[in-house]
Amino acid sequence: MSKSSNVKKVLENCIDKFNFKFKIKNKKNFIIDLYKSKFFLSELNKKVKSNLHFRTRHFKSVYELSVYRNFIYYVIRCIKPNKVVETGVLHGLTTAWILKALHDNNKGKLISIDIKRSDWKKYFKTKMGPGSEFDLDFPENENPGWIIPDYLRKRWKLIYGPSHKFINNFKNVDLFIHDSDHSYKNVKNEVETILKKNKNIPVIIDNFDMNRFSFDYLKKNSPKDGYCKKKYVFIDEVNDNLECHESAIIIQ
Ligand SMILES: C[S@@+](CC[C@H](N)C(=O)[O-])C[C@H]1O[C@@H](n2cnc3c(N)ncnc32)[C@H](O)[C@@H]1O
Repeated sequence: MSKSSNVKKVLENCIDKFNFKFKIKNKKNFIIDLYKSKFFLSELNKKVKSNLHFRTRHFKSVYELSVYRNFIYYVIRCIKPNKVVETGVLHGLTTAWILKALHDNNKGKLISIDIKRSDWKKYFKTKMGPGSEFDLDFPENENPGWIIPDYLRKRWKLIYGPSHKFINNFKNVDLFIHDSDHSYKNVKNEVETILKKNKNIPVIIDNFDMNRFSFDYLKKNSPKDGYCKKKYVFIDEVNDNLECHESAIIIQ
C-alpha cells in the first residue's frame, strides 16, 4: 500500500472518530472536494517550483501532505469558524490547508504567529524548543508561509514574533491551533491564555506527546470518577515507513 492510500485510510478513521465524539454529521464530501481541487495543488506546486531548495518536489495529491493537514481542513469545513488563530507556520503547508478551508467556506480569517527565520538566532539562543531539529532545513532567507498560494492570502494575517507577546490579544476566536515551540511552558501558556478569553473553543495541539501538557489538561478536567469533561480525539499520522502513530490532539 502506498503512503497516500495509507494517509487516506487513516484520515477517514480520524474523521469517523471526530464525527462521533464531536457529534458532527458525516461530511466526508468535503474531503472529496479537496481531493478534486486541482487548482489548489497546481498553485502550491508553482510555489514549490519557484523555490531553490524545494523545486524538485511535486505534489500529485493532497494525501501526500499528511493526515494532520487534511484533518484540519475537514474540521474547519465542518465548524465554519470566523476567526482561527495558529502558532508556528514555517513553510506554510498547514497554513495553506487552513486558508483553503476558509476559502471553500467563503468565510473566516486566519491569524498566524511565527518568528522570521532571520530572527531565530535572536530568539533561540540555544535551541528553539522540542521538535525544532526538524525545522532546521528551513532556508535562512525564507519567511514563514512562502509556500502559500497567492489566491489564498487575502484571508491571512501573519504576526512576527514569539507567541507569548501576542497570544493574550485575541478575542472571538473559534479555533486555536498550536504548532510552535512544543515545550510544556509554551504550550500551556498558549492554550490557557487563548482559552481564558475564548471559553470552550476547540484547540488542536500538534506533537502533543512532546510534553505532558495535554495529559495534565485532560486530567485536570476529569473529576474523580475518571470521566473527562472535555471531548478529545487523537489525530493519527502515517510516517515514511507507513507506520501509524498519534501525533496531534483536538480538545474541546
Ligand atoms: C513545527 S514548525 C511549524 C510547522 C507548520 N505548522 C506545519 O505544519 O507545516 C515550528 C514553527 O514554530 C515557530 N516558533 C517556534 N517557537 C515559537 C514561538 N515561541 N512563537 C512563535 N513561533 C514559534 C518556528 O519559527 C517554526 O516556524
